[in-house]
Amino acid sequence: MIISASTDYRAAAQAKLPPFLFHYIDGGAYAEHTLRRNTADLADIALRQRVLRNMSDLSLETSLFGEKLTMPVILGPVGLTGMYARRGEVQAARAAAQKGIPFTLSTVSVCPIEEVAPAIDRPMWFQLYVLKDRGFMRNALERAKAAGVKTLVFTVDMPVPGARYRDAHSGMSGPNAALRRMLQAFTHPQWAWDVGLRGKPHDLGNVSAYRGQPTSLEDYIGWLGTNFDPSISWKDLEWIREFWEGPMIIKGILDPEDAKDAVRFGADGIIVSNHGGRQLDGVLSTARALPAIADAVKGEITLLADSGIRSGLDVVRMIALGADSVLLGRAFVYALAAAGGAGVSNLLELIDKEMRVAMTLTGAKTIAEIGAGSLVAGR
Ligand code: FNR
Repeated sequence: MIISASTDYRAAAQAKLPPFLFHYIDGGAYAEHTLRRNTADLADIALRQRVLRNMSDLSLETSLFGEKLTMPVILGPVGLTGMYARRGEVQAARAAAQKGIPFTLSTVSVCPIEEVAPAIDRPMWFQLYVLKDRGFMRNALERAKAAGVKTLVFTVDMPVPGARYRDAHSGMSGPNAALRRMLQAFTHPQWAWDVGLRGKPHDLGNVSAYRGQPTSLEDYIGWLGTNFDPSISWKDLEWIREFWEGPMIIKGILDPEDAKDAVRFGADGIIVSNHGGRQLDGVLSTARALPAIADAVKGEITLLADSGIRSGLDVVRMIALGADSVLLGRAFVYALAAAGGAGVSNLLELIDKEMRVAMTLTGAKTIAEIGAGSLVAGR
């Protein structure tokens, strides 16, 4: 069977997951304009075909913060990943490590830091949100450090959760949500057995010691709204900088002025991201935001990007627009939900192959050779 990463795994995930979970993954904020533009704007970027250039020795290798990557791709932080497949964070982290790329554990993961980090033979990355309880944040960072995490992703584009109306329709949040979810789980017996009903799958590993923890997904979105902190500012980054020695990457930058502030602050990297269209609907797609940010800060800071990347061609496009490496969100989660760790491994191999075809036919032998010359105006 031929599986196209972008569409087939998404369809398979939809068939397997109860609707509230599929739509939680698949949906975006408000009318989902930004969500759609992320993929549409990327697809509109035309690659420049070049031929007859002896492209027999191709390398996808790169390095970030002294860490070697077999390709310029990172599995980004996705909350509740352990609900899409049993011990999902561990399965995805293993697939990433086997491929030779980093995995980022979300603050709101099902499997805790202490379970995922020892399951792989390379340091994982850890993503931190700003919660009102700074003691919790500090404790999470200490746990991450103790587990061997070096690279911190600090997400700054969620001072408040975006208006995600699909979640209210699907039963993820809103009236009678718990009852609606239970009914959906029982009509998806495979999911219910694999993930939903065995063990303690709904404990949110990293926040289980946190006061007011949502139990069994009880009003998860409401919990986010109550505990996330709209007062977040550069002061919080300074506070974290004091006791985090490793590389610190700021996730959720969409404007060149904020990117310059990140350089002034001394961040090691930024992730140009609109949170996959899940936060402020109506903002630019990352494919459109990235070039101006690259103009402003390229060379001064490690530049990463995500949102809308579904294929190896998209990876090449983002790098041509100025990114050093990219993160995957939904792409790997659809594969995980559809086929577990094997699905993620297969997806990463497909992306590898797609990148090789794109690099061969745009005349780039290395990641460093992908650039503005890999693109052409028009559609
Ligand atoms: C996310 N994202 C996210 N980001 C983060 O910093 N911490 C988190 O816990 C989550 N949780 C999360 C859950 C789900 C279901 C999705 C789809 C996304 C955002 C994620 O890291 C990334 O920015 C986007 O997923 C990128 O967009 P695409 O590639 O999914 O379109």
